[in-house]
Amino acid sequence: MAFKILFLNGPNLNLLGEREQSQYGVITFNELKKNCLRKSEELDVKLEFVQSNIEGEIVTWIQKAKETYDGIIINAAAFTHTSVAIRDALQIFKKPKIEVHISNIYNREEFRKKSLISDVVTGGIFGMGSHGYILAIIAMHKIIKNENK
Ligand code: DQA
Repeated sequence: MAFKILFLNGPNLNLLGEREQSQYGVITFNELKKNCLRKSEELDVKLEFVQSNIEGEIVTWIQKAKETYDGIIINAAAFTHTSVAIRDALQIFKKPKIEVHISNIYNREEFRKKSLISDVVTGGIFGMGSHGYILAIIAMHKIIKNENK
């Protein structure tokens, strides 16, 4: 049976392609989604790729994920730096979790240097542009495969 991965995207990521291109590039959210779905198909992974501007909705998705998904990849966007609720929900989800950021959050403004979720996830990828999304899918696939040997 194919592994199932939930890919969560936080606020304003729906505006990729038009927001701060110097940080996030020109790729649109839909193009990024298509690339991720293509890579998942190649790996025979079932990928659910979603975005929300609402913190509580992301918390609910994480809570429900334990019934259906083998792993979560999350770009919590601005909530990375503020949301104890998303952190707590991730801590409750006991399967592999990867944090992704398109930009390098450690060479930007001070307030972005603190991630509230880095220490409750399996690992993270940042500063690799949209390639980071593909790398995260490959890494998650390998992690889940190893766990299911
Ligand atoms: C981001 C970095 C965050 O600081 C920012 O609020 C975002 C995107 C990234 O992917 O680089 O919205 O998570």
